[in-house]
Amino acid sequence: MPDRSLRSGLMGKWRQLTIAAAVLAVLTPLVGILGAPRGARAEGDKPASPQYLGTEACTAKCHKKELAQHQASIHSKTDRDASATADKKGCEACHGPAGLHKQAVDNDDENLQMEKPATMSSKQMTQVCAKCHATTVSVLKFVDTEHAAEGMTCRDCHVMHQDKPTDRKLKQPTNELCLSCHQSLKVQLKANAHHPVLEGRLKCTDCHNPHGGSDPGMLKKDIDELCTSCHKEKQGPFVYEHSPNVDEMEDGCLTCHAPHGTPVAKLVKLSGRGLCLQCHTDIATDGRHRARPGSCWRSGCHIRLHGSQTDPLMRR
Ligand code: HEC
Ligand code: HEC
Ligand code: HEC
Ligand code: HEC
Ligand code: HEC
Ligand code: HEC
Ligand code: HEC
Ligand code: HEC
Repeated sequence: MPDRSLRSGLMGKWRQLTIAAAVLAVLTPLVGILGAPRGARAEGDKPASPQYLGTEACTAKCHKKELAQHQASIHSKTDRDASATADKKGCEACHGPAGLHKQAVDNDDENLQMEKPATMSSKQMTQVCAKCHATTVSVLKFVDTEHAAEGMTCRDCHVMHQDKPTDRKLKQPTNELCLSCHQSLKVQLKANAHHPVLEGRLKCTDCHNPHGGSDPGMLKKDIDELCTSCHKEKQGPFVYEHSPNVDEMEDGCLTCHAPHGTPVAKLVKLSGRGLCLQCHTDIATDGRHRARPGSCWRSGCHIRLHGSQTDPLMRR
C-alpha cells in the first residue's frame, strides 16, 4: 500500500516536472535576451577576477544536452531565484565561474580552464553543495564518513543534472541504492527474524544518515534513542531498570539485539542462556538456575528483562 501511493506521488511529481520543463523551454529565450546585457557588461570589466556569465552563456552554443537536463531538474530553480548571487545560480553554482573557460573556448586553447567535477574529491564536492545544502550536509561530517573514506562523493548516490523519477534525485530508490553496494546484508535481512526492510516497510535511512550520523554506523541518533524512537514501550522509565549503569550496557540495545536480522526470534543475538551469560557468569554454576532449563526469558521467568515497574528481578 505505501508503495503504491509513493509511486503515484512520484509519477505526479514527474509529470509536474515535465510540464515545468515545457514552460521553461518557452521562457528560456526570454531569460536569455534579458540576461544578455548584464553578461556583456561583466565581460568588459575586470578580466582578472573570476567571471560568472550565467546559464545562457554556457548553453547558447554548447552544452545543449546538459541544458535540457538541467531545465527539467529541480536545480533550475536557482536560475529563477532573483535574489540569488551569481555564484549560486545555474550551471556555475556547481561548476564555478565560466569566464576563463569561455575565453579559452573562443581562443581554441587546449587548457579549457574548467574543473571536472567527475574528478573532484569528496571534500571539494561537498564544499560546492554545502553552499546551498548546509542543513543536509556539513563538510566536516560527510568527510568523516566511511563513504567519504572510500572516496565516494555525492554523485555516487545522486544524479546531478537530470532528476530521476525517484525521490531526492537518487540514482535508485533508497533501499535498492544501498543494497546495490551492501549486497551481503540481504542475507541478514532475510533471516528468520529481521527488520522488514526488503518488505518495504522500513528504509535504510530510517536508521542511517548517509550524509554522516553518529558513530559507529552513521546512525541518525545514538543507539538507544534510535531504537526507542520506534519501540517506545522499551524506553521506560522503569522502577527497576536492567543495569542503570550505562558503562556496563554500553552497547545499549545492541548488547542483546542485532540491528538487521538474526536466526533467533525477536532479533536476539544469541539463543538461550548464552545471551545473559555474557555478563551474569555466576548463573552458569548457580544451583537454582541449573534446576530450571531453557532460556532465561522464554521459560517464563525474566520476561520483563527490559525493565520492570514491580519486580527487581524483572519477572513481571
Ligand atoms: C548541482 C550541481 C550541478 C549543476 C547545477 C550543473 N552541473 Fe554539470 N556536472 C555536475 C557534476 C557533479 C558533474 C560530474 C559528472 C556527473 O556526476 O554527472 C557534471 C558534469 C558536467 C559536464 C561533463 C564534464 C566532464 O568532463 O565530465 C558538463 C559538460 C556539464 N556538467 C555542464 C553543465 C551545464 C552546462 C550546466 C547548466 C546547464 C550544468 N552542468 C549544471 C554538477 C552540476
Ligand atoms: C545554488 C544552490 C545549490 C547548489 C550549489 C546545489 N544545490 Fe541542490 N538544490 C538546490 C535547490 C534550491 C533545490 C530545491 C530544493 C527545494 O526546493 O526543496 C535543490 C535540490 C537538491 C536535491 C533534491 C532534494 C529534494 O528535496 O528533493 C538534491 C539531492 C540536491 N539538490 C543535491 C545537490 C548536490 C549533490 C549538489 C552539489 C553537487 C547540489 N545539490 C548543489 C540548490 C543548490
Ligand atoms: C550513500 C549515498 C548518498 C551519498 C553519498 C549522498 N547522499 Fe544525499 N541522500 C541520500 C539518500 C538515501 C537521501 C534520501 C534521504 C531519506 O530518505 O531520508 C538523500 C537526500 C539528500 C538531500 C535531500 C534533503 C534531505 O535531507 O533528505 C540532499 C539535499 C542531499 N541528499 C544532498 C547530498 C549531498 C550534497 C551529498 C554529498 C556531500 C550527498 N547527498 C551524498 C543518499 C546519499
Ligand atoms: C557506491 C557504493 C555504496 C553505496 C551506494 C552505499 N554504500 Fe554504504 N558503504 C560503502 C563502502 C565501500 C563502505 C565502507 C566499507 C564497508 O563497510 O563495507 C560503506 C560503509 C557503510 C556503513 C558503515 C559505516 C561504519 O561506520 O561502519 C554504513 C552504515 C553504510 N555504508 C550505509 C549505507 C546506506 C544507508 C546506504 C544507502 C543510503 C549506502 N551505505 C550506500 C559503499 C556504498
Ligand atoms: C532498524 C534500524 C536499521 C535499519 C532499517 C538498517 N540498519 Fe544498518 N545498522 C543499524 C545499526 C543499529 C547498526 C550498528 C551500528 C553499530 O555498529 O553500532 C547498523 C550497521 C550497519 C552497517 C555496518 C555494519 C554491518 O553490519 O555491516 C551497514 C553497512 C549498514 N548498517 C547498512 C544498512 C543498509 C544498507 C540498510 C538498508 C538495506 C540498513 N543498514 C538498514 C540499524 C539499521
Ligand atoms: C523506524 C522505526 C524502527 C526503528 C528505528 C527500529 N525498529 Fe525495530 N522494528 C520496527 C518495525 C516496523 C518492526 C516490525 C514489527 C512488526 O512486524 O510488527 C520492528 C521489529 C523489531 C523487533 C522484533 C519485534 C517482534 O515483535 O517481532 C525487535 C526485537 C526490534 N525491532 C528491535 C529494534 C532495535 C534493537 C532497534 C535499534 C537498533 C530497532 N528495533 C529500531 C521499526 C523500527
Ligand atoms: C539484556 C538483553 C536485552 C537488551 C539490553 C535489550 N533487549 Fe530487547 N529483547 C531481549 C530478548 C531476550 C527479547 C525476546 C523476548 C521474547 O522472546 O519474549 C527481546 C525482545 C524485544 C522486542 C520484541 C517485543 C518484546 O517485548 O518481546 C523489542 C521490540 C525489543 N526487545 C527492543 C529492545 C530495545 C529497543 C532495546 C534497547 C532500549 C532492547 N530491546 C534491549 C533482550 C534484550
Ligand atoms: C551487558 C551485560 C548484561 C547482559 C548481557 C545481561 N545483563 Fe542482566 N544485569 C546486568 C547488570 C550490570 C545488572 C545490574 C546488577 C547489579 O546492579 O548488581 C543486571 C541485572 C539483572 C537482573 C536483576 C538481578 C540482579 O542480579 O541484580 C536480572 C534478573 C537480570 N539482569 C537478568 C538478565 C537476563 C535474563 C539477561 C539475558 C536476557 C541479562 N540479564 C543479560 C548486566 C547484563
